[in-house]
Amino acid sequence: MRPFLHFFWAALKNPLQVSTLFQTGKNASQLLTDAVPDHSKMIVELGVGTGAITQSLMAKVEGPDQYLGLELNSELIGFAQERFPTLKFINDSAENFPKYLKGQKVSAVVSSLPWTVMPQAVVAKTIESVHEHLIPGGVFTTYLTVHVLKTPAGRRLQHLLQDKFSSLESKVVFDNLPPAKIFVAKK
Ligand SMILES: C[S@@+](CC[C@H](N)C(=O)[O-])C[C@H]1O[C@@H](n2cnc3c(N)ncnc32)[C@H](O)[C@@H]1O
Repeated sequence: MRPFLHFFWAALKNPLQVSTLFQTGKNASQLLTDAVPDHSKMIVELGVGTGAITQSLMAKVEGPDQYLGLELNSELIGFAQERFPTLKFINDSAENFPKYLKGQKVSAVVSSLPWTVMPQAVVAKTIESVHEHLIPGGVFTTYLTVHVLKTPAGRRLQHLLQDKFSSLESKVVFDNLPPAKIFVAKK
């Protein structure tokens, strides 16, 4: 089955986990990965899905040991693993990524997690872990779809990003379903 159909079915079956029917579009995926430094030592992806963003990230991944992807949905992670057989994927919740790093620090974290449907404690712990494990100057990219920007959970996430990181830039991508605000945060 093609990635977008697989994703669509998984989203229908698990709406509160996957949160959207559509994979991240090409332009949004590109913006999320453009900010990842070239020659990054370690890149972590959170909420891999069927690998829409992983596909863009491949331009930045120079070797299989440089990438770690986490995804909560076992069907989706199985699909991603078949699609990118050399990369390391883990079926676990995002906030647990440090335990798979074997003490390594991270140059960049790219997330398409559905922040506004996740438990508040998991969101806070994930952001905390991202900040703690990034190298100084390391990059964290993520997004919120525009219709959730002003919800309580959307606002909380934006405040967390502002409070935790030393710089925060954003840009709205309109040709995404739904349109999305991309955030690029630096430690
Ligand atoms: C909006 S989709 C993005 C999927 C894909 N990366 C893309 O860009 O099309 C969010 C993904 O995060 C996964 N997810 C939700 N909660 C998670 C968690 N706590 N830890 C890891 N993955 C999670 C969902 O199963 C889903 O695949």
